[in-house]
Amino acid sequence: CGIVGYVGPQPAVEVVVHGLRRLEYRGYDSAGVAVVAEGRLRMAKKAGKLANLEKELAEHPMPADGVGVGHTRWATHGAPNDVNAHPHLDGAERVAVVHNGIIENYVSLRAELEADGVVMRSETDTEVVGHLLGRAVAAGAPLDDAMRAVCARLEGTFTLVAVDSQDETAVVAARRNSPLVVGVGEGENFVASDVAAFIEHTREAVELGQDQVVRITADTVEVTGFDGQPAPVRPFHVDWDLSAAEKGGYDWFMRKEIYEQPRAVADTLLGRYDENSRLVLDEIRISENELRSIDKIVIIACGTAFYAGMVAKYAIEHWTRIPCEVELASEFRYRDPIVGPTTLVVAISQSGETADTLMAIRHAQEQKARVLAVCNTNGSTIPREADAVIYTHAGPEIGVASTKGFLTQLVACYLLGLYLAQVRGTKFGDEIAATMAELQAMPAAITEVLEAIEPVLDLAGEFADAPSVLFLGRHVGYPVALEGALKLKELAYIHAEGFAAGELKHGPIALLEEALPVFAVVPPKGRDQLHAKVLSNLQEVRARGARTIVLAEHDDTDVVPYADVLIRLPRVSTLLQPLVATVPLQVFACELATRKGHDVDQPRNLAKSVTVE
Ligand code: G6P
Repeated sequence: CGIVGYVGPQPAVEVVVHGLRRLEYRGYDSAGVAVVAEGRLRMAKKAGKLANLEKELAEHPMPADGVGVGHTRWATHGAPNDVNAHPHLDGAERVAVVHNGIIENYVSLRAELEADGVVMRSETDTEVVGHLLGRAVAAGAPLDDAMRAVCARLEGTFTLVAVDSQDETAVVAARRNSPLVVGVGEGENFVASDVAAFIEHTREAVELGQDQVVRITADTVEVTGFDGQPAPVRPFHVDWDLSAAEKGGYDWFMRKEIYEQPRAVADTLLGRYDENSRLVLDEIRISENELRSIDKIVIIACGTAFYAGMVAKYAIEHWTRIPCEVELASEFRYRDPIVGPTTLVVAISQSGETADTLMAIRHAQEQKARVLAVCNTNGSTIPREADAVIYTHAGPEIGVASTKGFLTQLVACYLLGLYLAQVRGTKFGDEIAATMAELQAMPAAITEVLEAIEPVLDLAGEFADAPSVLFLGRHVGYPVALEGALKLKELAYIHAEGFAAGELKHGPIALLEEALPVFAVVPPKGRDQLHAKVLSNLQEVRARGARTIVLAEHDDTDVVPYADVLIRLPRVSTLLQPLVATVPLQVFACELATRKGHDVDQPRNLAKSVTVE
């Protein structure tokens, strides 16, 4: 979910709704705002996208002054309808609260309130917080005291932001596990799930820690722990510019982000390789000695980031000879994983807020493992809790389906693998330099793919009615196939599956039928058998009448007899091929979804950053 709160001289409702627009990628099942002005609380909320709320506000305008909070929802408890939309109020309609996360003990709190005569209006877990806050302020507590007292009773994950109709000067917010940042302006202050909500007003921000409450007025920001003691905060400057959060002439954020990939990859490489041909990863904060003592790496991530982790395993094991596992974050801590002080856990997360990944790193830290985050979002929770971080400098990714986030995660993982190889001496100067040179050439290679993308756009038209699409790959091409299938599922709502090409004959081959589209990622010709093996897999596919769309190097003539459609890729080494091979698959999914009339940036049922387990 996305949350905004505002105190200052601008019309609160406008600032809040505008902020929600920037946060809509975090959830778009319903949206709502509450404003305190002229001693009264006013609220509007609507199921569906933010546009529905905007229409409601146009028909029933709110006062232009006062303080405000707003919310855009990704439903967990209760259907996405008007009543379950946030904000939620207390019985006296004095307090309004918005919430991101899950209150795990809400059933008992609800029962307690109902036993006391409180009538619930919604099915949400959040409403109990509204009533509890309402009771506390009715008993005379200022809203921030009430917030601390209520938070002490809550279990689970939450960001809460509240206003009290008896106090037109302040917004109060609290956080445990879910994200919240404060935007510090001149004569105005903001709270929000992420900085995108306020970067057009201020670039100065303050990161809140775990179990903290903040009370903002137009001129003050007071942060305390749940115990009421003043708490330390970390100020930071946001260096994303505003244009990064706008579409800049593209139809979708996703398409813009696909085209930003050469830049994002270049930015992620920038400054990480010095003039003495050594990798420098300053943010790593784990000593070289400790890195030398590592005997196992476990990569944890979700969704697209998990596929980046799968690619990373091939590269890291190859370069460092350290055994490397990749695991879905949501599975990791529930299976009693074997990790300890000599394990390096690498958590990959674009947003830095994914709850499954966060809980997994906490579990790893309890087992004394060292945790390194690969993350795109400064100020987010996962890098803050990790022992070390490699930031991917992709800039804000707004499209729900990850694109530049994925490519830059790959780059960060390659850098990590090379860095470990350098520190441990498993690969030496020249070899590292050769791979670095190839990485430096990747922005140009990705540009080349994008410049020749026309046939992929046509292909999307051709396959718009396909009921199912398969993707095949071997080695690092396998996670690329999985990512290609995921993109299509997410955006086009088509059944799509990725397979290890060699596994096809062990089952999935039964799915093949006349004209079924099958994409195959063909690795470059090398000394090993990989290339030849993929060609034989392609032959198996063709023999059963399926239509093959083959991604292969531009001068690979061996593939021609096996390809109904050929998509040409620049020449790169096998391990780095995902950086170019993924791009046509992203474009294919984006284009196909566009042709089907879907909302590419906000696909149904998904959210960009899932802050619940
Ligand atoms: C959500 C998004 C996915 C994303 C996954 C992991 O489910 O819809 O696109 O890959 O979260 O996100 P993260 O921010 O941790 O990389």
